[in-house]
Amino acid sequence: MNVYFDNAATTPMRKEVIQSVSSVMEECFGNPSSTHAYGRTAKTYIETARKGIANLLHAAPQEIIFTSGGTESDNMILNCAVKDLDVTTLISSPIEHHAILHALEGLKKIYKIKVAYVNIDNKGSIDLNHLEKLLKEDESKKLVSLMHVNNEIGNILDLQKVGDICHQYHTLFHTDAVQGIGHFEFELEQLPIDFLSSAAHKFHGPKGIGFSFIRKNSKLEPFIHGGSQERGLRAGTESVHNIVGMHKALEIAYLNLNEERRIVNSLKEHFKSSLLNVFPEAQFNGYSGEDYISTYTLINVALPISEEKAGLLDFHLDLKGIACSKGSACQSGSSSGSHVLNAIQSDELKSWPSLRFSFSVFNTIEEVNYVINALEEFAA
Ligand SMILES: Cc1ncc(COP(=O)(O)O)c(C=O)c1O
Repeated sequence: MNVYFDNAATTPMRKEVIQSVSSVMEECFGNPSSTHAYGRTAKTYIETARKGIANLLHAAPQEIIFTSGGTESDNMILNCAVKDLDVTTLISSPIEHHAILHALEGLKKIYKIKVAYVNIDNKGSIDLNHLEKLLKEDESKKLVSLMHVNNEIGNILDLQKVGDICHQYHTLFHTDAVQGIGHFEFELEQLPIDFLSSAAHKFHGPKGIGFSFIRKNSKLEPFIHGGSQERGLRAGTESVHNIVGMHKALEIAYLNLNEERRIVNSLKEHFKSSLLNVFPEAQFNGYSGEDYISTYTLINVALPISEEKAGLLDFHLDLKGIACSKGSACQSGSSSGSHVLNAIQSDELKSWPSLRFSFSVFNTIEEVNYVINALEEFAA
């Protein structure tokens, strides 16, 4: 049996998405910037997708800027905030994705800016009092970047609360919502968010396509220089088929949100209770063992398995055809370990192997049972 429980790394494309991507590839190869009929058709596809995505998220079409995905969107917002909006203080957390953390380090080398990190507790919760203190004591132009759903431990940030705090101190707020878009509802018109990042491959869309939400009148200048695509902010011929595929994926995600959420959540619940039957001492990392404050799509667990034996766990799961993640997906196979778990775990838990299992609507209860049996067999 092959089991794919690594949906936080990437998701399989839906059949309907593949169909819409391939039909655009077959029928519409024009360059959207061309003024002839081929170009106009391609442009129509893009603008229909932009409008559709904006509607699904309650944003305005001109606030959706297509990019190559989460990493580019994160880099775009942080870079533009510094170069175009005179932001000199960037505040984030130590458990953000590397697309944020490494971009911040890069910016610090180029510009005279300050980067501060808000405190977190041993569950990965953001200390909002500390955030407020950082904002209060700094008079400079600031931007806060905090992720919506943590890709490793699943913690959900209260966007309303954090955005309100930021705006109270005249600070811009960006959220990396790569793990949230397509899995949770967004009312962008009302949320106190200035910028947001998203990637289609996390909600059963194509890879290499995503978007930045940039609130109206944000006054950003080009991030990539060249043609006038994407309101001049992000030059380059648009990936028409991928944009259409992303719209299709998001449309289906929101059409079926409640039903699919129920299904995926029941997989997680079954996984959790079966796992605790086999390993009563297992510890869930962050809030991933809990409802509502953690995403229903993943669970991250530290297992009471000796260090010597743990070295063979990956190998065992791989042999059984099971795909899951040790720490963050982007670091699978790397020996440096997860910066998120390093930041929150006690020394004892750090010596236990931690695994992230992330689910989608294409998974089944039988697959959950198979994985639990494989873990039990390994520990025996
Ligand atoms: C929270 C988060 N941000 C950013 C990214 C990067 O997105 P992309 O792979 O589309 O560049 C990921 C992907 O793992 C992610 O989970």
